[in-house]
Amino acid sequence: MRILSGIQPSGKLHLGNYLGAIRQHLELQESGDAFYFIADLHALTTVKEPRLLRENVRDVALDYLALGLDPARAAFYKQSDIHEIPELSWLLTTVTPMGLLERCTSYKDKIARGLSPDHGLFSYPVLMAADILIVDADVVPVGKDQKQHVEVARDIAGSFNHLYGEVLKLPRDRILPEAGVVPGIDGQKMSKSYGNDIGIFLEGRALKERVMAIVTDSAPVEAPKDPDTNNVFNLVKLFAAPEETAEWRSRFAAGGLKYSEIKKRLIALLDERFGEARERRKALAKDPGYVEDVLQDGAARARKVAAATLARCRRACGID
Ligand code: ADP
Ligand code: TRP
Repeated sequence: MRILSGIQPSGKLHLGNYLGAIRQHLELQESGDAFYFIADLHALTTVKEPRLLRENVRDVALDYLALGLDPARAAFYKQSDIHEIPELSWLLTTVTPMGLLERCTSYKDKIARGLSPDHGLFSYPVLMAADILIVDADVVPVGKDQKQHVEVARDIAGSFNHLYGEVLKLPRDRILPEAGVVPGIDGQKMSKSYGNDIGIFLEGRALKERVMAIVTDSAPVEAPKDPDTNNVFNLVKLFAAPEETAEWRSRFAAGGLKYSEIKKRLIALLDERFGEARERRKALAKDPGYVEDVLQDGAARARKVAAATLARCRRACGID
């Protein structure tokens, strides 16, 4: 089984990225041929500052390696190192109906949030289709919000095959069902762009400040409370064992619970889950050459597969 996924270097990774995407990537690297890449070409649709882009790419590489990406198993690379991707992307644009892209909710959401609609943002799903199709991926593990983009990739592959024969493999998504949408400190979907995220590698005072800033209601301590509308509980349940979650549920219902108590527990749960990775990240950050070597090696492996797919596609449409 061939597995592919990309992560945008759009800032420090947060708990939503971890539960919605990274955790699956790490699990899946054990069960097949994994290709994981840093989507720096995609990031250009939102990050227009070269220094920041470079910094983000390095951060995301360190984050993944610290969390357990094993470069001996998974090919880990920068999208921009694979020149075959933008070339395939062009071939695919010529079989992509405008309507398919116009229906993409992620594009519409970004416009609604005030991003100016440049062509890169509009054709983002075509580049994503090229990322996926160029390695003949079987499975694309992503968060729920990317499901539509994987469907678009399937549709585009279908159109290409319809015209030129069975050239491209149709991929399917793999969504981690229990994570769903991870809420941020204000209860909306956790997202870097909403400024409501909790970073995976926050620790000590910075983590404490962030957790203390989680929005809660001002019901009196004695009042019985509904755990399901509480932003702290909704994060705790993602990291605690089921028995502990059940216990918090009954403590909410009984009344007498101080929110500071469950906030402290959330900090402890995050320290337990990410403590080791934080130390590993500090060690890796001291050796920038190592990260560069990993990415170069990954690119060489990905390029081999990509070159073969592109050659097939070029031949199929008469460019050879
Ligand atoms: P952001 O919204 O912070 O910019 P991205 O869009 O870069 O995050 O998301 C990267 C990956 O993490 C995607 O696969 C996405 O589905 C997943 N993801 C991001 N935020 C969440 C969330 N709040 N809950 C679940 N998964 C998420
Ligand atoms: N669009 C994805 C995101 O924002 C990142 C991405 C780019 C991707 N290319 C991909 C994910 C290919 C899976 C497969 O999270």
